[in-house]
Amino acid sequence: MQILLHWLVAALVVVQYATSGAIVRTHAVHMIGQRQDPTDLLLHGLHLKLGLGLVALMVGRLALRLWIGAPMPGGTGSAWATCTARVVHAAFYAVLICEGLTGAIASYFWWPISLAHVIIFKILLALVTIHVAAVLWHALVLRDATLRRMSPQ
Ligand code: HEM
Ligand code: HEM
Repeated sequence: MQILLHWLVAALVVVQYATSGAIVRTHAVHMIGQRQDPTDLLLHGLHLKLGLGLVALMVGRLALRLWIGAPMPGGTGSAWATCTARVVHAAFYAVLICEGLTGAIASYFWWPISLAHVIIFKILLALVTIHVAAVLWHALVLRDATLRRMSPQ
C-alpha cells in the first residue's frame, strides 16, 4: 500500500507542477478584466482538488505508518546516510502537507500566504533532487536493493 501511495504522490507532484501555470494565468487575466481561458479554468480547478487529494494521501500514509509501522531502512548505507534518508523522508511529509495547506489557505481564506506556497515548492524541488540523486547512487554505484524495495512486488 505504501509503495502504491509513494508513486501516486510522486505522479501527483508532477501534475501539480504542470497545472500551476494555469493558476497564475487565470489570475493575471482576471486582474486586467479579460475572460479566462476555459482550459486554464479547468486546470486551475484540477490543481486545487488534486492538491487537496495529495494532502489526504500524505495524511493516509502517516496514518498507515503509525498504525502498521514501516520496514527498517536498507542495510547497505552508512549511519549518516541512513540518518539523512530519515530526515529527507520526514521532510517530504511535512513539506507536502504544508504545501497543500498553504495553497488551500491562499485560495479560500488569506491570499498573502501564497508566497509561502511558492517558497515551499522550491524546498520540495530541493528535496526531490537530493532524493533522486540518492536513488541513483544506490542503483548505479552501490548497486543495492533500494530501488527494488520501492518497485511493485
Ligand atoms: C500539495 C501539493 C501542491 C503542489 C506541489 C503545488 C504546487 C504549486 C506550484 C508549483 C505553484 C506555482 C508557484 C509559482 O508561481 O511559482 C502553485 C501555485 C498555486 N497553488 Fe499549488 N500546489 C499544491 C497544492 C495546492 C492546493 C491544495 C491548493 C488550493 C486548494 C493550491 C493553490 C495554489 C494557488 C492559489 C497557486 C497560485 C499562487 C500564486 O500565484 O502565487 N495548491 N502550486
Ligand atoms: C515528488 C516525488 C517523490 C516524493 C514526494 C517521494 C517521497 C518518498 C518518501 C517520503 C519515501 C520514504 C518512504 C516512507 O517513509 O513512506 C520515499 C522512499 C523512496 N523513494 Fe521516493 N519520492 C518521490 C520520488 C521518487 C522517485 C522519482 C524515485 C525513483 C527515482 C523514488 C524512489 C524511492 C525509493 C527507492 C525509496 C525507498 C527508500 C528505502 O527503501 O529506504 N522516489 N520516497
